[in-house]
Amino acid sequence: MDGLLQEITSLEGRRFVVVSNRQPYAHVRHGGQVRAEKPPSGLTLALEPIVQATRGTWIAASSGDADAETVDRAGRVMAPPPGVEYTLRRIFLPPRLQQDFYTGFANSTLWPLCHIAYHQPRFEERWWKAYLQANQAFADAVADEIGGDPAVVFVQDFHLAVLPQLLRERCPQAIIAQFWHIPWPNPEAFRICPWRKEILRGMLGNDLLGFHLPYHCMNFLETVDRELQVRVDRESSAVVLGRSRTSVAAFPMSVDYHHIQTASGLPQARAEAARLRAEHSGGGQRQLVISVERLDYSKGIRERLEAIQRLFERHPQWKNKVVFVHIATPSRTTVRAYRDYAQTVDRTVARVNALYTHSGWIPIRALHIYVEPEKVWNWYQAADALIVSSLHDGMNLVAKEFVAAGRDDAVMLLSEFTGAARALKEAVPINPYATDAFADAIAHALAMSGDERRDRMRRLRWRVEHYDIGVWAREILRAIRQREFDVQDIALPVAGVHAGSQPRLAAAAAPRPARARRH
Ligand code: G6P
Repeated sequence: MDGLLQEITSLEGRRFVVVSNRQPYAHVRHGGQVRAEKPPSGLTLALEPIVQATRGTWIAASSGDADAETVDRAGRVMAPPPGVEYTLRRIFLPPRLQQDFYTGFANSTLWPLCHIAYHQPRFEERWWKAYLQANQAFADAVADEIGGDPAVVFVQDFHLAVLPQLLRERCPQAIIAQFWHIPWPNPEAFRICPWRKEILRGMLGNDLLGFHLPYHCMNFLETVDRELQVRVDRESSAVVLGRSRTSVAAFPMSVDYHHIQTASGLPQARAEAARLRAEHSGGGQRQLVISVERLDYSKGIRERLEAIQRLFERHPQWKNKVVFVHIATPSRTTVRAYRDYAQTVDRTVARVNALYTHSGWIPIRALHIYVEPEKVWNWYQAADALIVSSLHDGMNLVAKEFVAAGRDDAVMLLSEFTGAARALKEAVPINPYATDAFADAIAHALAMSGDERRDRMRRLRWRVEHYDIGVWAREILRAIRQREFDVQDIALPVAGVHAGSQPRLAAAAAPRPARARRH
């Protein structure tokens, strides 16, 4: 994170405010005790070291049943957990609004709209109105938090698509950037949304808009070009609307490689990993193959279970030689589609196990529980292989965490429909829809020699180590900085011009003169 710290100094005293729906920790009641718990969200896990390094403020929606009693009147957590050096400010949305915003528009409309997982999005006007209202509540909190201070506001993800435009009006001095953590679909897929123009205009309130992949950027530019009367400047990858300009760029997200590697290498973590390995591999007789995800239809869990059944049909030599442990944390359980999916997964696990369980060997162990990040890393250390079978995924940080924490001789199977697959070329690629080929790929990975696995893992580690979360954050901060310089109205000195006509170089230090000209 050293380079990141260097880039942070370029904030030049501006407040750094991160805004996301999901909070980095929730206060949850357990009997008479209140504990701070981290959510199963790659987003919060990856962003936390950055907010920590900037000692910034994180504004997010409340989600824990003891959240309200641990904050002051503005919603700021009064006694953060040990080691937390940033301020968490919580927003408390009324339950009905929260339901229509989060369960409704965010997770039943935008999530399936942006993930091509063949799950039909639903468009309810009531949800859309709640979405606007919730975004407004976030805008109120940000405006109240920064007042007139110069600030960089870094908005996260699809829950807050219209927030940038609201902030543009409310906080003209702020630099506004957003990172969209999920895929951006092609214009054909997006055009079924009745409020597509409003969503796009909302996102064009950003100075900088980041996606994981150049492909998502291209889809976004194409969508904007078709839907709005704007100028799309493809050469500089920007959208020009009146006098405002939104730069659009790809920043493939990553993980805190060194932290994960160090933590998973500690003696206690190693001992726990060895225990898990011994327990689940039948004392080393079987390979341990794991998967880790939220219980979400976009993760291709059902498809993976079908492929496991097909593995035993097509490659019966692997019966009793492999155990699949799948850790799927229940997620978004207020959404019906997620509850139905959990039942489908349960039924499929039971079916495959009923077909193949034999003299003490149970092929699949399903753990539908929340496992803390550090404990997940122990599982990575224990496993011979990881399968990531997403039907569509913006990035998939589990794949990168596995590279940081896994064994030297572990092998990874990675869906070609994840953003991570673009960089992690030494993983065994899978198409989760192609059950036979998926099963064959599992057999291929199981049979792969130790030498080949080690060689692949060595290269994968190099890739993640050299593009970790620090690089991601640094590149975004640098792009924000560059964007700021690009819009500032500075007439540079021209050779031969009289010293008295020295132009306004000092404007570079003044807070955002160009902002006033927007809209
Ligand atoms: C994805 C989204 C995040 C979200 C996470 C967990 O990674 O991109 O924004 O936080 O899923 O989902 P949840 O609905 O529990 O926040």
